[in-house]
Order: sequence, then C-alpha cells, then structure tokens
Amino acid sequence: MTEDSDGPTENPQPPSPEQAPEDVYAEWAELRAERPVSRNENDIWRVARYADVREILKDHRSYSSEVAQRFGDDDGSAPLMLFSDPPEHDRLRNLVNRAFTPRRIAEQAGPIEARCEALVQDLVSSSEADLVESLAAPLPVGVIATMLGVEDGDFAEFKRWSDTIFKDIGEVLIGTPSEATQAAGAEMAGYFLERIAELRRKPQPHLLSDLVHVETEEGRLTDAELLMFCGLLLIAGNETTTSLIVGGVRVFHEIPGSFERLKASPEEVPSFIEETLRYHSPFKVTLRRAARDIELHGETIAAGELVLPMIASANRDERVFDRADEFVADRSPNPHLAFGLGIHSCLGSTLARMEGRIAIESLLRHLDGIQLAKIDLAELDGFGAPTSVPVTLQRAA
Ligand code: HEM
Repeated sequence: MTEDSDGPTENPQPPSPEQAPEDVYAEWAELRAERPVSRNENDIWRVARYADVREILKDHRSYSSEVAQRFGDDDGSAPLMLFSDPPEHDRLRNLVNRAFTPRRIAEQAGPIEARCEALVQDLVSSSEADLVESLAAPLPVGVIATMLGVEDGDFAEFKRWSDTIFKDIGEVLIGTPSEATQAAGAEMAGYFLERIAELRRKPQPHLLSDLVHVETEEGRLTDAELLMFCGLLLIAGNETTTSLIVGGVRVFHEIPGSFERLKASPEEVPSFIEETLRYHSPFKVTLRRAARDIELHGETIAAGELVLPMIASANRDERVFDRADEFVADRSPNPHLAFGLGIHSCLGSTLARMEGRIAIESLLRHLDGIQLAKIDLAELDGFGAPTSVPVTLQRAA
C-alpha cells in the first residue's frame, strides 16, 4: 500500500514507513525473533538471522548456487557465473578476475564523475524530479555500457534492452522470460557477438576487450561465456547500484539533519555509504539450493529444496549490530553482508561503492536538501530497484 504525502511542500514531513503495516523490517524482526528458519508462501525456506545467513553464504558445498530451473539446458548459452558451483564457478571467476582489475575499476572514477555531474546538473534544474529516471538508473547503466565498450550511438539501444530485461528479471533468472524479453536478449546477444568478433581482431582499452583476450592455463572465455558475462554485469550491477543511490537519499529523507551533517563533513560519505548498504540493503535476498539434508533451528531443509538467505534481514540483526534499527552514519565496525560473502561475493563492490560515493557527493555539492515526495514501500522495499522515486529538491544557493 502507498503512503502519499500531499505533494511537495516547503517543509515536507517525512512519511513514516516504520509505521506501515506491511513494513518488511518489522516482519523480518519478528522472523529473527520467533522463526529464524521458516517457509514462505512459495514454500521456499527463509533464513533471517545474520549468523545463519553468513554461514550459508560461506558454505557453498552445503548450499549450492545452481538454483536456476534452466541450468544446464542445452540451448548453447553458458550458465550464469552467479548460479554456478565449483569447479565451473572458479574457472569463470578466475578468468573474470584477471580483467576486472583494480586498475580497470579505478579508471572508471573520472568518467563516473563526469557522467554524474551532467546528470545531477540536469536533476537540479527544477525543484521536482524523478530520482531514478534522472540519476539512480542512468548512472550505473552508463558505467556498465562504458566498461563493455558500448559506443555512444548504441547507448539508447543498450538502455532499451537492459530496461526490457529488468522488467522481467524474476523470469529471466528462474522462470520463462516473455517474448519481448527474449527478443531484447537476442538483439543484445547479436550486438555483443559482433563487438566480440571485432575485439578479437582489434583490442580496445575496456573491460569487454580484456575479457575477450584474457587467458589462463584453463583457457579463454568462449563467446557464450562472454555473452553470459555481459548479461551478468547488467543483472548484478545495475539495479543494485540504483537501489544504493535511492537508499542514500531515502536516509536523507527519513533522518532529519542527516543531509546537512553530511554536507558539512563530506569526508564521512564512505562510512555513510557502508551504513546505507547495511540499513537499506540493495540485494535483499539471494537464493541457494540445499545440497544435502540440513538441520537448522529444529527444521529440516531437505536436499534439493530452495533456501533464501535474507541478507537485508541479517544486516538488521540485533544480535550483531548495536542499535540495529538505527542509521548510525559512522558505524564502525560495520560487518554488513550487503555484498555477500564467500566464493560469490560481489565482484563489483569497489565499483558500486565508488558510484554511490560519487553520486552522494555530487548531490551534496549541488543541493541544500532533498526529500522523497512520495513513499511507496512496495517500490522501495521490493525485490528489485524502484522504478520511480519522485523527489523535491532545494538547489544549493
Ligand atoms: C550496491 C551495489 C551492489 C550490491 C549490493 C551487490 C550485491 C551483490 C551480492 C550480495 C552478490 C552475491 C550474491 C550471492 O552470493 O548469491 C553479488 C554478486 C555479484 N555482483 Fe554485485 N552488487 C552490487 C553491484 C555490483 C556491480 C556494480 C557489479 C559489476 C559491475 C556487480 C557484479 C557482481 C557479480 C558479477 C556477481 C557474481 C559473483 C560470483 O558469482 O562470483 N555487482 N553482488
């Protein structure tokens, strides 16, 4: 259900998501306290406490990542690295790690700053805007497009494919994608296969080119694996980063004075980002399949059953975090699980942190304040990133 304000006002009163009956955080607190392991409405096991989520993420032998129904289908496509187990996973990750180097990531800082500056300049040109449309979505799509060498003229197409795929992401991951999604996927595959062929002949200074040429004693990435990786970057790197930027602005809205404090001490942005990752975790749950019968808190998870480690709930666990339901901007240590743990831990965490930091710093520079004009908890706390977050802005004097 949506809790609307009456539109922008001079001093908007923060709507109070905590009081909403469908507040997911209250529901998760109840799960952590009463039913740390329980079945959801689809009969999938939910695991709500930090210690258990941590253990599941670490123990890839007991909890397999081969969760997709179509995994192993013989359609010529390569399995998503995120949904594969060793040894397949390790071979892919080793190859990809060689290309996804700190240098490649560090050199994104300049282009991200420039892209962000242009988007924020545009955003602050009026007093009302859609945060997702203006900044939080185009920034990460643009970053990934650059890393994959998508040329300016092809950017609109790339954005259209990625938007179409995202609208149907649940089915893409573990179901049957719509015809429109399949068509977008096929067009994108055709585009990247051409680029890959060109890059084999003539390398370029970007991540996709590095991936095309990377080689270990285990060989190279095949065309199908390269396509898988382009898709995985889109799936794993876009919506999550959109959610992080939205999460930061949501904190400004929910906690009076937080914007002003951070604007006065911008050197605290990195720890603000860490706490945002904990407090409004973008990747709320992930998925595993039990590889054996497992006893957990008196429940038996049978081999083959699906398990949802609830990352966002773990990150609010009062057993681990003091004042777990409070946003503590300088929390230290902050051992959140927002980027996962173990062999599948986020490949793009440094990049995501950089994008989040640059976006928040840019908003602080250009604004004197920002509020959500409408709180739609279904959008904000849903599985993927919100598609629209209207905001009101006060441009810096
Ligand atoms: C705030 C933003 C992000 C968050 C919260 C996030 C979170 C995560 C989490 C929790 C996982 C592990 C999932 C699991 O174990 O099932 C993961 C994996 C992954 N992420 Fe991120 N991610 C973010 C941004 C990015 C970006 C920007 C990229 C790349 C451009 C990226 C690429 C990946 C990849 C490739 C994997 C799979 C790693 C593997 O299977 O070995 N992520 N991410």
